[in-house]
Amino acid sequence: MNAVFPGSFDPITSGHMDVLTRAARIFDHVTVTVMHNARKQGRHLFTLDERLEILREATAHFPNVSVDTFGGLLVDYMARQESGSVIVRGLRAVSDYEYELQIAHLNRQIGDAETVFIMAATRWSFVSSSMVREIASYGGNVSEMVPRASASALRRKHADVYEEREAELQAQTTSL
Ligand code: PNS
Repeated sequence: MNAVFPGSFDPITSGHMDVLTRAARIFDHVTVTVMHNARKQGRHLFTLDERLEILREATAHFPNVSVDTFGGLLVDYMARQESGSVIVRGLRAVSDYEYELQIAHLNRQIGDAETVFIMAATRWSFVSSSMVREIASYGGNVSEMVPRASASALRRKHADVYEEREAELQAQTTSL
């Protein structure tokens, strides 16, 4: 049985990676698909191409995972998949549940698509792409919260902020 793991992935976090690792153990094949979230329109840090590149690098070690993108409805994408394929979504905490439940019901109603929820490990319950973006925008350390590909891309995106913060920290250390 195959699965599709859809999301914005701006960028992929360690929580996403945890869910993907679990999904890749359960399903024959998992396609990580970058899709459009209307609620996040115009608020992306990374372009679609950048997000795809990060995902390819972060998932290269999985023999049964591929990366894709689709600009339409998730149910239309699911209709193109092998029969019996399911949607995988991760749950971090109870707060995710209400939104995810609504989407899962809608996807079943409009496209007969089934959703399987996989709980991320509790250590990732506080990690989100938006928090990671915010910390990185101030030059903070996000290396624990994201795979290496995301951390490098965030560092490149905010190179000037990271350099400035590191210089400040260095100056503080040498003046002690
Ligand atoms: O990582 P996200 O932003 O929580 O992922 C949400 C996503 C992209 C899976 C969702 O917005 C989606 O399915 N977008 C495709 C368009 C669609 O089918 N919308 C109807 C369900 S909300």
